[in-house]
Amino acid sequence: MAADSNSSRKSWQGRLSADADAVTAQLLASIDIDVALWKYDIAGSLAHAQMLSEVKLISKDEFAQIRRGLLSIAADLEAGRLETPADLEDIHMVIEAELIKRAGEAGKKLHTGRSRNDQVALDLRLWARDAADDLTDLIRGLQNSMVEFARRQGEVIAPAYTHMQRAQPIVAGQAILAYVEMLQRDVERFADARKRINVCPLGSGAVAGTSLPLDRPRVAQLLGFPEITRNSIDATCDRDFLAELCFGCAMLAVHLSRWAEDWIIYSTTEFGMIRLGDAYCTSSSMMPQKKNADTLELIRGKSASAIAALTGILTLIKGLPLAYNRDLQDDKRFAFPIVQAMKQCLAVAAGLVSTARWDEQRIEEDINKGFLDATALAEYLTSKGVPFRQAHHIVGRLVAQAESEGLALAQMPIEKLREASSVVTADVYTHLGARNVVKDYKPHGAAGAEQLRQQLDYWTALLK
Ligand code: ARG
Repeated sequence: MAADSNSSRKSWQGRLSADADAVTAQLLASIDIDVALWKYDIAGSLAHAQMLSEVKLISKDEFAQIRRGLLSIAADLEAGRLETPADLEDIHMVIEAELIKRAGEAGKKLHTGRSRNDQVALDLRLWARDAADDLTDLIRGLQNSMVEFARRQGEVIAPAYTHMQRAQPIVAGQAILAYVEMLQRDVERFADARKRINVCPLGSGAVAGTSLPLDRPRVAQLLGFPEITRNSIDATCDRDFLAELCFGCAMLAVHLSRWAEDWIIYSTTEFGMIRLGDAYCTSSSMMPQKKNADTLELIRGKSASAIAALTGILTLIKGLPLAYNRDLQDDKRFAFPIVQAMKQCLAVAAGLVSTARWDEQRIEEDINKGFLDATALAEYLTSKGVPFRQAHHIVGRLVAQAESEGLALAQMPIEKLREASSVVTADVYTHLGARNVVKDYKPHGAAGAEQLRQQLDYWTALLK
């Protein structure tokens, strides 16, 4: 069908003489996903128009009309009063078409010296900057919940596991603060990614810039960017910053999935170490006794989407020739949903942690199972001059003996212990049993109560 130049709604219809059919138009459209950029698109256009008026490419009056139009469009979008027709392809075209309706001839000047290529690059950077900040705030919220949990019940003596086997006793707070450390690295990763997000590409045009005298630093300043991009080609097709944001999400999601897995296991009847708040569990449609940790399972499962988003965006960029190619339109389909999902997971996780508690009684009942004090006994022998390798061997044999007799090491009579090594004296019992072992931990960062207090002080100061 030939396009009538008067009725056509597209900005480039001077050049093309046929409209896309419905299914093709749908392929070309991104409005369903990039509508989420509307605030950034308007902010970018306001800054661009102000700069155009300052360099006298448009008049003060034209800027005022554009400004009024954009602000009224923003108000309508905010209130859900503005339709976003799919045949206009994307949010950039919807807003520009609407502006032309509202501001007439002045509206037609907004796109002076600009391409959708640098426009969308700008909008994505503004979006990504907010995303990094929002994620950081939410991670802080989860860290706070975890630190609070470690303060509430941190000194409960619990088993630590390696290879999922009981290893050594710890103050339970140590196991929570391990996740606070991971989350801290996530915060730092987003802060680092933010430096490369926070560069203004506007003024790069479609690929080569423009012959018009744009003031790029002014636009950057108006939008709070400390820097402008150096190369128009790179600026229009760089999506590294989105890949970095997705990597930050993937790493975060992997951390959350490890934590979720720990707590799913700890909340089983078999482990019985942790009790989850009912609000974060679901029951079964068939089995009335069930209390399932579905929220933790969904948080664990979201890591699949996060890893998929990262591989998706990397694959999208891979092999793309310079500069902008339409493939890039789909970058949002990876980045937007995963940021949204991570925000949701972080908010739920914070609530879940603040309503969970260690089952102290159950942990205490089992604490002397599994020879958690075996390493401490070997170290006791070492402190009395037995070479560690030999001490390890002696205690290994003692454990085998105790196990066959159904005893804990602390229940073995002194004669048996002295038979194993003559350096043993009666003070050995003050070093056996989980509670005593934890009291003996010496180095900085170990799993004792004193080291826990130091870590809590550190996090309290950092997070306040
Ligand atoms: N919706 C497009 C995107 O998100 C805008 C850029 C289109 N540019 C073009 N030259 N066709 O990438």
